Amino acid sequence: MMPIKGLKMKEKNSFINNKIDFESPNKNIVPLTTTINNGKLFIGGCSVEQLIKNYDSPLYILDELTLRNSCKAYKNALDKFYPGNSLPIYASKANSSLFMSNLISSEGFGLDAVSEGELLTALKGGVSSEKIVFHGNNKSDKELEFAVTNKIKVVVDNNYDLERMISFSQALDRRIKIMIRFTPGIECHTHEYIRTGSFDSKFGFGLENLNYVFKEINKVKNLELVGLHAHIGSQIFELEPHRDLGEILVNFAIDAQKYGHQIKELNVGGGLGIKYTNEDDPPSIEDWVKTISESVSKACDKNNFKLPLLMCEPGRSIVSTAGVTIYKIGSFKEIPGLKTYISVDGGMSDNPRPITYQSNYSACLVNDPLNKKQKNKYTVAGKHCESGDVLFKEIEIGSCQTGDLLCVFGTGAYNLSMSSNYNRIPRPAALLVSNGTAELIQKRETSEDLLKFDVLPDRFIKQS
Ligand code: LLP
Repeated sequence: MMPIKGLKMKEKNSFINNKIDFESPNKNIVPLTTTINNGKLFIGGCSVEQLIKNYDSPLYILDELTLRNSCKAYKNALDKFYPGNSLPIYASKANSSLFMSNLISSEGFGLDAVSEGELLTALKGGVSSEKIVFHGNNKSDKELEFAVTNKIKVVVDNNYDLERMISFSQALDRRIKIMIRFTPGIECHTHEYIRTGSFDSKFGFGLENLNYVFKEINKVKNLELVGLHAHIGSQIFELEPHRDLGEILVNFAIDAQKYGHQIKELNVGGGLGIKYTNEDDPPSIEDWVKTISESVSKACDKNNFKLPLLMCEPGRSIVSTAGVTIYKIGSFKEIPGLKTYISVDGGMSDNPRPITYQSNYSACLVNDPLNKKQKNKYTVAGKHCESGDVLFKEIEIGSCQTGDLLCVFGTGAYNLSMSSNYNRIPRPAALLVSNGTAELIQKRETSEDLLKFDVLPDRFIKQS
């Protein structure tokens, strides 16, 4: 278990006072439109306090400008360092919705999906099928069929996928384009649960099997191997692993050529980390893109290999900083000499990351964002029946009381998409804010909604 360091906020919340960096959205903790008016927090031109009055709490909020700015940072960097031949793909597992599908599509992105649900959300949200890639280490027959029928490119992860794709290609008697995913054997420093590039990963073919796979695919008339994919992990701050990955991908593309495959697409996955706290110092989107672009181009030049379409799959660095979660503070429990708990009206059901990965966040009071009141140290607990349901082990914020609102930053990725109904707690609503306007992008669940899928068999109804 990694130790939780606790938030070190400098005087008056330096993370809010810091100059907001529009060039590198993933280097900010707060959304780009964050302002303080009359001592109160505003995002997207909207008073957060007023949003809670209108939409209740807890509440997820997404800032449109920050979202679009992150997309543009990827697009511009790819155009600059790998001109004319790239496709950024949004990893929708970070936050999947009709709205997100629509927004990233309007920014020229493709989309990565790992289930029929994510595929359907992408298609219904307006992403065109040729820009979707379908991942997963255990796709169901139904999911594969859905992808193939909709002409979505499948990333073959293992022999089970391969066998079924061979059957499809024979049954349909049309050429099907596929990519294959492999485990490149790259270690990176991130939480072990979100590391995927090392040899013992459950994802992708092992390097030792690649030549065999190239040979097998070549025997199949209707399968066209167009690309290679590897993803090494998430929330990564180092650039070296991705530099290595670019070169490794090109080397295997050259190997594939020996077996008659012309690799036209290389997908380096996602993984760029973001700034959750003052201690985090991720590279900028531009530096990350520059690193992978240069490594792929150099390796291609060296080997006289035609530059492939370069794909990358950012998730967190597109949507995390754009998102915040607002909670209402309820009960207090002071344990003299030890700590003071404040409990909020959400917790591990809307943000399972602290309990799962010991993740750290930054937060402030909505009506005292700069900690003008006397500061206190608190432990922020969720409302679930679980001692580990703690969002902040220790946080220093202005002195607060029941009814005050707490804003947690950086929750746009892997919060709503990983949320649950533990303790039958309904999911919060999600809003989009932009230029002083708020729009609902996901309705708040109700307790009644949670009963929708319960079935009481007839004989039990008779008994009662
Ligand atoms: N591509 C593939 C194949 C992936 O598996 C992932 C993330 C991504 C792209 C996007 O990675 P990103 O840019 O977001 O780092 N639930 C964890 C993160 C799991 C990431 C899973 N795969 C968390 O909350 O930190």
